[in-house]
Amino acid sequence: MEIIIQPNAEEASMIAARHVARLVRDKPNAVLGLATGSTPLMMYRELVRMHKEQGLDFSEVTTFNLDEYVGLSPEHPASYHAFMWDNFFSHINVKRERVHIPDGLSSHVPAFCRKYEETIVAAGGIDLQVLGIGSDGHIGFNEPSSSLASRTRIKTLTAQTREDNAKAFGSAEKVPFHVITMGVGTIMDTRHVIILAFGEKKAEAIAGAVEGAITAMNPASILQMHPVATCIIDEGAATKLKRTEYYRWVYDRKPEWQKL
Ligand code: GLP
Repeated sequence: MEIIIQPNAEEASMIAARHVARLVRDKPNAVLGLATGSTPLMMYRELVRMHKEQGLDFSEVTTFNLDEYVGLSPEHPASYHAFMWDNFFSHINVKRERVHIPDGLSSHVPAFCRKYEETIVAAGGIDLQVLGIGSDGHIGFNEPSSSLASRTRIKTLTAQTREDNAKAFGSAEKVPFHVITMGVGTIMDTRHVIILAFGEKKAEAIAGAVEGAITAMNPASILQMHPVATCIIDEGAATKLKRTEYYRWVYDRKPEWQKL
């Protein structure tokens, strides 16, 4: 795993945005895996800026989002549909029919999940998956104890995650118990993963994911087995890592052609 520590969330987000932009320029019909939460917001803002000011073209891009709350309609303000359109899709030229977000209102969740997996395969697989991380190490909504080989399916949120995500709903009691999420195995099939984490609240989860043993108790730790995983974090999220000197040393010595 490549670990890139930046002075702040903004600089980290710029690097992530440049990765996405480079892929979209090199492969206009790229397939992006996208995440919600506060973490990728600055990256989305920068991609919108690149679209508006530099003509970054998303017209042939296909997207798959990681997850959605069960029971929420796309119009619900706390739904991940609303989040993605408000913060990203409405501001770029992505085609609506190329956007995929799990359907929280599906009447047959297992059938929907199978179809979601098939649609990813039919699109050619995900080229670049952007991830945040939960304070408990979850990726997508794969909570601790999730199978590390899991596929898209229904999951039940932990009390901690319902607390963490309460803001969008007004209170933790209003956060749904169930979600549909891409599985850990689905995420592992993507060609490149970028995991972003900002602030000390994420430090423990990042330390476990990067330097801990691979365990379903910290689902992000499976990324140690991903052939191309890039972990881009700020100083706060790096506070519990032991080998920060080495990570900085490697990054400072990156060959020019590898830099973004
Ligand atoms: C939710 C999402 C995750 C996200 C996590 C962290 O649980 N399902 O994909 O990574 O929140 O959220 P934030 O970025 O707001 O800290």
